[in-house]
Amino acid sequence: MNFILRNGLTLIAAAASITCAADNIKVDHLGPNHTYVRVKGDDKLLILPIQESIDDARINVVVDGKLEKTFHARLAKTKTDYTVPFDLSPYKGKNVILDVVANHSRASVRETQDDACWSSMTLTDSFDTANREKYRPLFHHTPSYGWMNDPNGMFYKDGVWHLYYQWNPYGSKWQNLSWGHSTSKDFINWESHPAALEPNGLGMVFSGSSAIDKENSAGFGKDAVLAMYTSASDSQTQSLAVSHDNGKTFITYPANPVLTLDTEARDPNMFWNPESKLWTLVLAHALDHEMLIFTSPDMKEWTLQSSFGKGLGAQKGVWECPDLFQLPVANEDEKKWVMICNINPDGPFGGSGIQYFTGDFDGKTFTPDKDSTGNVKTKWLDFGKDNYALVSWSDAPEGRRTAIGWMSNWQYAADVPTMQYRSANTIPVEITLFKGNDGQYYASTKPAPEMLKLRDKLTVNSKKASINVKAHNFSLPSENDGICEITMTIDPKKATNVNLTLSNAKGEEVIMTYNISESTFSFNREKSGITDFSKDFPATTAAPVFGTSPKLSLRIFIDRSSIEIFGNDGRFAMTNLVFPTSPYTTLSATAKGGKAEISDLRIYSLNPYK
Ligand code: FRU
Repeated sequence: MNFILRNGLTLIAAAASITCAADNIKVDHLGPNHTYVRVKGDDKLLILPIQESIDDARINVVVDGKLEKTFHARLAKTKTDYTVPFDLSPYKGKNVILDVVANHSRASVRETQDDACWSSMTLTDSFDTANREKYRPLFHHTPSYGWMNDPNGMFYKDGVWHLYYQWNPYGSKWQNLSWGHSTSKDFINWESHPAALEPNGLGMVFSGSSAIDKENSAGFGKDAVLAMYTSASDSQTQSLAVSHDNGKTFITYPANPVLTLDTEARDPNMFWNPESKLWTLVLAHALDHEMLIFTSPDMKEWTLQSSFGKGLGAQKGVWECPDLFQLPVANEDEKKWVMICNINPDGPFGGSGIQYFTGDFDGKTFTPDKDSTGNVKTKWLDFGKDNYALVSWSDAPEGRRTAIGWMSNWQYAADVPTMQYRSANTIPVEITLFKGNDGQYYASTKPAPEMLKLRDKLTVNSKKASINVKAHNFSLPSENDGICEITMTIDPKKATNVNLTLSNAKGEEVIMTYNISESTFSFNREKSGITDFSKDFPATTAAPVFGTSPKLSLRIFIDRSSIEIFGNDGRFAMTNLVFPTSPYTTLSATAKGGKAEISDLRIYSLNPYK
């Protein structure tokens, strides 16, 4: 992945030319916990050594005496876990001081001098973003370095899928929230760009959405890209930004914030409603466990129209990251609206989860569907632990409702065993609607069709296999750390349970079970590899299979540290992280209670480098 600097320099994963720190970096210790790092602004990067286990230092960036910005970083005290770059190119020829205030308990300036970070700061021309980490996925989007959480502001324009994301450019833990930016034309290759929105006087840049202003309703010009996001400081307010260069850079609206409330509210998700000729915005009224719906003719003046959700669905967590869109129902002459309400905690297996409601929307009020007993059903878009903050692209082509999630869970996202980057996105999925056996409407998620291009060699092609108590083994591909796609149809016949186990020579395993009488599919990762970084990680997750017959079709994607399962043509999805100490090499199938049959079992090695 290339990282492009603001001044146009493309930094490729390559060895850096390092200038000796002593010649170019002047370090003045001013007192216990207070240091000035002085450098001359240049087309260079100042490499900052980071130690994850210590507290953040506050760093004011003072340029020719003027405060430019403030950020926080865990500057190394006793050892360096990894490094992050600070880009000096905007300050060419100027005097830059990093005014560092650390947060250690110490009495004298001597102790400050001993910190590991001062001697190992360097000035370089490039920062190495090579994809070397063992668990870093090969075909999922990841930030080139640093922490990532929610996907933000995604829009599609001129053949390019834009993905923004909650990003910390100065470390692999949640901090300094900015909108990182990546683009892709095929959902397999992603290009990383400079941050599109950075913290300013109104606070950090939290989650939000973007859309193309086709009618010039906001007056910034036809086809300008508009973004709405939460400015987060002591309070949360909503801000507007506009891009005139197809989402590369955004200019924040000078009269921000455009929407304020006296309670916590965030993650504005907006779309142009061609019927009402108004922008519609859904805002998470987080602690009130509801979504607020506003409308505006111009993105600047907002009117509250209604609220949705109080007392409905899962209520114990905060409501975050909404989305609202209309879709046709498969095989029915009907359309329905879908309201996505991500919640955390109180997800189906603890921590984060994607809740959704189907219903009707009249431009002002969302009315949820009820079941035959008059209740509003709690529905989940994913039955694993690791799909959160999923929202969809605006302006996707051909009526597609393409969405992407953050592949982690707030319970342990900051502790997973990765370093230079932390967290990946799910693969992009297409959301469609179907009517379930109970007459209720449900959302299905299928892998975006682009993912078919990943398929490389068909390494296993088993037309029919009879499965019994004795394990029937299939080898997984070895190329590219075993990343693969597995497809199959299970006909349980007389069996009560069918087990699929992924394992490696170290005895690490994931056990997936189709329980026929309960019509559930479960995923047990208790012995999947490294699990001890959080008590919430070892777990079993289970999905209703939403079948129309006892047969179960499966599509499974494995990418080093993630397993995504799509069952019965996406009628259920299950996303779970795993950290095997070496890749799984074998898929074993067994059946209990009688013989089962597995047909059309295909295993494809995947090649993201084609
Ligand atoms: C969801 C969330 C959002 C917020 C963002 C901050 O994961 O808590 O509600 O905008 O993360 O990073």
